Amino acid sequence: MSQSVFIVTGGAGFIGSNLVAELYRRQPDARVVVIDDFRTGSFANLVEACERKGVGAFRGEVYPDSVTDLNWQPAVEGLEPRAVFHLAAITDTTVSDEQSMLRVNAESFTDIAQACAEVGVPLVYASSAATYGTPPQAARREAFPIEAAGRPDNVYGFSKWLMETEHARIAESCAQEQGKRPWIVGLRFFNVFGPCEARKGKMASMVYQLACQVLSGQKPRLFRDGTQSRDQVYVDDVVSCTLAAAGLGEQPDPAPGVYNLGSGVATSFNQIVQSIGIALGKAEPIEVEYFDMPESIRAFYQDFTCADMSETKRGLGWSPSHDPLEAMRAYVAYLAERPNTWKRGGSA
Ligand SMILES: NC(=O)c1ccc[n+]([C@@H]2O[C@H](COP(=O)([O-])OP(=O)(O)OC[C@H]3O[C@@H](n4cnc5c(N)ncnc54)[C@H](O)[C@@H]3O)[C@@H](O)[C@H]2O)c1
Repeated sequence: MSQSVFIVTGGAGFIGSNLVAELYRRQPDARVVVIDDFRTGSFANLVEACERKGVGAFRGEVYPDSVTDLNWQPAVEGLEPRAVFHLAAITDTTVSDEQSMLRVNAESFTDIAQACAEVGVPLVYASSAATYGTPPQAARREAFPIEAAGRPDNVYGFSKWLMETEHARIAESCAQEQGKRPWIVGLRFFNVFGPCEARKGKMASMVYQLACQVLSGQKPRLFRDGTQSRDQVYVDDVVSCTLAAAGLGEQPDPAPGVYNLGSGVATSFNQIVQSIGIALGKAEPIEVEYFDMPESIRAFYQDFTCADMSETKRGLGWSPSHDPLEAMRAYVAYLAERPNTWKRGGSA
């Protein structure tokens, strides 16, 4: 049997490095090609992820290039990958340079998706819960169905929404020209947490930020009154669903489309803090320092997010297997054993 080739853009990032390591765990002989310009990624993520999965040293190829500079059609034709996983993006949601955000996140996607559709290679890409902005379901504290997206609150969410609209356009034109939709799956990641996120610094998850505060002896700080709730999903679930979307899960022929990828549960910030306390064996509940949310962010703040996972199950045959609070406890124990990460204040 010939060696499977996988292209992972953003493969040196938090989720990408975990995906690379899991590919090696499942297919030790795989040829993994990482394309990453190291804007927020690091070689250290690949080292950490491979070590955590016990797959030996990273042995893939790394192209330290921007996805915007690549000539995608010949690259995909030449490498003949089994699948392309497109995770590269500007992930700092506070970046206000709209042109850069749209160039990197949205414009490059068109080339990648067209090349994959043309050559007939499965493409799985990272969209985001940020495509929802604040849908009516948030006020009712209900799970977000797929069709509720499209009114993002920031340019990052808008860039992901543009990827999805391009996806729809390319799928439609292939259906008309070739009689079938290309194998392209967009996954709206919700709030992902887990190992290898430390190098994202201030963009790392709330779970990580709060764990760092507690581990370094500070009182965790939360916007009043800590009941804000988000769908927190463990990185191993995100990786497993991403692979399932490429037909590497239980269902060999997942249905192309756009799906939610969350835990399906909303976890409050207060719950996160208390689960950190449990993980660290604290006898008393952890005391929180509450403060008022600045007026400037109030209008754009996602007070509640929760993924409706029913379509994901139907289309991809995949459901989350990690309870977020349990996964948080295991993750906090992982961090506690690695003080070199959190002692540097989240920017190891
Ligand atoms: N972590 C989350 O909670 C979350 C939530 C929703 C969506 N996502 C999406 O998941 C994907 C991975 O995010 P992450 O959390 O691992 O963040 P990350 O910042 O660790 O990973 C992004 C990677 O993309 C690389 N990159 C950025 N611009 C690039 C370019 N022009 N060319 C090549 N590489 C480039 C970065 O160097 C980095 O390695 C992103 O697309 C992100 O938008 C993440």
